[in-house]
Amino acid sequence: MPLGPLMIHSSIANLVSTLLWLVAAGCSGELAQAQASKAQMPEGPGKAVTLRICGNCHGPGIFTKRRLDREGWADVVDDMIRRGAKGEDEDFVLVMDYLVQNFSKADVRRVNVNSAEASELAEVLGLAQAQAVALVDHRRAQGNFKTIDDIKKVPGIDTRAVEERKDRIDF
Ligand code: HEC
Repeated sequence: MPLGPLMIHSSIANLVSTLLWLVAAGCSGELAQAQASKAQMPEGPGKAVTLRICGNCHGPGIFTKRRLDREGWADVVDDMIRRGAKGEDEDFVLVMDYLVQNFSKADVRRVNVNSAEASELAEVLGLAQAQAVALVDHRRAQGNFKTIDDIKKVPGIDTRAVEERKDRIDF
């Protein structure tokens, strides 16, 4: 069905109001709040301040998926301050503690793609069982994986899942 003038008009109006909403929500932190419910932000003393300081330029998903040790988080926070993150010193102490407490490298379960059973691969990498079995079959037939790209090339593999969890993979 061709778009009539009315429909075009209303979709432009929608677009404009969405953009206005995004701008308004971004400024007030509501966008960050909305995204926080999607991203994994566990409760804790620093949650609110972390959302306020770290959730405006980008959604919280950019850091809730990361797993770093204290030194790694300190580097990120320094980098973000250089990029314009604003807050009091005591805010950043809370933010650091919250990040280290909840997104620490230590609690990431890792998996060796060259020795793990299919069920473990499926669990740690968030793959469907059939995909994990395909990895094991491929490994048996072609030999060990050496790089993340080797894994992504296996037919049927969810390359996005692999990319997202690549820091959990050992060879
Ligand atoms: C003034 C804007 C701004 C604020 C505030 C901000 N960031 Fe960022 N952040 C950026 C930009 C710009 C990037 C790089 C572009 C991108 O990946 O979106 C980035 C990227 C990141 C990355 C990915 C870095 C990488 O090397 O891939 C992480 C993690 C991150 N920010 C965490 C945080 C945390 C934690 C805070 C709160 C302390 C924070 N950000 C506050 C602007 C900001």
